[in-house]
Amino acid sequence: MINGTVNKVSTENKNIVWHETTVSKLERQEKYNHKSAVLWFTGLSGAGKSTLANAVEHKLFERNVHSYVLDGDNVRHGLNKGLGFSDEDRKENIRRIGEVAKLFVDAGVITCTAFISPFREDRDNVRAILEDGEFIEVYVKCALETCEQRDPKGLYKKARAGEIPEFTGISSPYEEPHKPELIVETDKVSIEEAAEQVLLYLKSKAII
Ligand code: ADX
Repeated sequence: MINGTVNKVSTENKNIVWHETTVSKLERQEKYNHKSAVLWFTGLSGAGKSTLANAVEHKLFERNVHSYVLDGDNVRHGLNKGLGFSDEDRKENIRRIGEVAKLFVDAGVITCTAFISPFREDRDNVRAILEDGEFIEVYVKCALETCEQRDPKGLYKKARAGEIPEFTGISSPYEEPHKPELIVETDKVSIEEAAEQVLLYLKSKAII
């Protein structure tokens, strides 16, 4: 405290110095026999992001690939508890997840993130903190009507009834990716097929 005000710690604090890790990302990738990257699944609630991310992870796990799923609903119970759904909070949600995903990539892990991440700029900001080829944007495309029919958590019904403000697709926007690495259409193909498409992509880029 200085003169009764809290001295804020920021990354600009000159007393905080970045430590290079002794085991490098490259060494980890060589040892694990695969590269690391983020599979960034984005799309409407109910589009199948979590289901697909988990299906992909299962396939990776079976192939002895080091992988992990970061899921919107789960992360909001812990790390991002306290963040809501205003544009500002969603931005902060995605910024934090981006930083966590980057740490996972440094750790040599293929990280599957499943967040609506409705704003293009926020997704592009995550892309920008990763190296070329490490950010794989997967647009989990599904018609709003289908998501609404699925309504696995009953949230669309509540949103239509005006009980949930700023609900993505209803009263808050979703900005489709312009140039995603991959588009999977979960209202046209099965989850199994969609997961295979993702695996094929990883193979085509020699990530696995
Ligand atoms: S994001 O927009 O910040 O990326 P995130 O993926 O973390 O969202 O969380 C979305 C999940 O929170 C949805 O799948 C849904 O279960 C729940 N949710 C609760 N309120 C809202 C809302 N207003 N808009 C969208 N999803 C919501």
